[in-house]
Amino acid sequence: MAFDVSTVRAQFPALRRRVHGRPLVWLDAASTSQKPQVVLDAVLHAMEGAANVHRGVHTLSVEATSAFEATRDSVATLLGGVARDEVVFVRGTTEAVNLVAQTLGRARVGQGDEVLVTQLEHHSNLVPWQQLCAERGATLRTAPLDELGQVDLAAFTALVTERTRLVAVAHASNALGTVLPVRAMADVAHAVGAVLFVDGAQAIAHGPVDVNALGCDFYAFSSHKLYGPTGVGVLWGRRALLDSMPPWQSGGDMVAEVERTSATWREPPHRFEAGTPDVTGVIGLGAAVDWFQSLGPAAVADHDQRLLRHAMARLADVPGLRFIGEASARIGLVSFVMDDVHAHDLGSAVDREGMAIRTGHHCAQPVMAHFGLSATARASFSAFTTTDELDLLASALVRARRSLGLAR
Ligand code: ALA
Repeated sequence: MAFDVSTVRAQFPALRRRVHGRPLVWLDAASTSQKPQVVLDAVLHAMEGAANVHRGVHTLSVEATSAFEATRDSVATLLGGVARDEVVFVRGTTEAVNLVAQTLGRARVGQGDEVLVTQLEHHSNLVPWQQLCAERGATLRTAPLDELGQVDLAAFTALVTERTRLVAVAHASNALGTVLPVRAMADVAHAVGAVLFVDGAQAIAHGPVDVNALGCDFYAFSSHKLYGPTGVGVLWGRRALLDSMPPWQSGGDMVAEVERTSATWREPPHRFEAGTPDVTGVIGLGAAVDWFQSLGPAAVADHDQRLLRHAMARLADVPGLRFIGEASARIGLVSFVMDDVHAHDLGSAVDREGMAIRTGHHCAQPVMAHFGLSATARASFSAFTTTDELDLLASALVRARRSLGLAR
């Protein structure tokens, strides 16, 4: 299918909604995505003939297992053609970080060792590493940002030492949109034998992702930011690392043999998928991945960058508006503040015109601290976002400013 924004829009029932009497303008994709009809259909179909996976010889279970496992193939292709048994289904990016921190992290990081993150991490790719370091007597180091909200690669490199065991970075920042130089970071981390974990929650829906080209060891993302259901996500890891990791949670389906007082583990990915998984969610994710692939991730990226250029040009004309984060490499997302207006007031004002933007610290308080702020307003784009919607946002922000009594 050629990428055509009106064809894309027609597939989203949410876009037929009106909010406060106006057509919904969804500019909160970084928080969660709306869902295309094919995903809704897949979820409904999975629930109409509900069955557990990997556990039955009856027809419905065989069908459910086949649909569930097809998602693993789709994800393996999406990530650049990795092995299907390197794809682990988890609850979301947050769970993926916790899984790695509490298995590989506990095994590798000891007293006096170091873990390196950056100052633009979402709390979910920060707090689990803080906890790991506190538990192990290790030191957490933070690579600083420059005034544009970019990670300073020289400073990052200087913080990698012989004691660095693990490096955890976002592929793209949820608060600023900054895309990180993951390939270069991988080379720096690997030069000292450290493992590189990448939080792909924000990058995954904005263009192609090839984990081998990125050179990382782990990559995680959530279904719900990729046009799929909430409650499910993916941890990709290199097979040798997954093989070396102990189970995280234990229970059914992750065991090979169980005796009265002991058990042995299955191979990855099943070792990390204890209990009945989110069968419906995984099948919905499969539909979302296939749908995204049918758009063409490279075409989505082109559209996203057009939207970003348009938003920067239009919002620059809004009186009193200041961009927060102007990295040269960005996903389709703009963060901003307005003189004399709190971000929440901006969010409420544009909501009255049917527009959803996010306001607050975006679960990235160290980013806010870097800019001396407590909150920003953030507009984030989807494959269905149009330049007309960005024009509407700019004019709504001008009206918001006037309605708060600020003439200019
Ligand atoms: N991490 C999501 C966001 O940035 C929730 O909005």
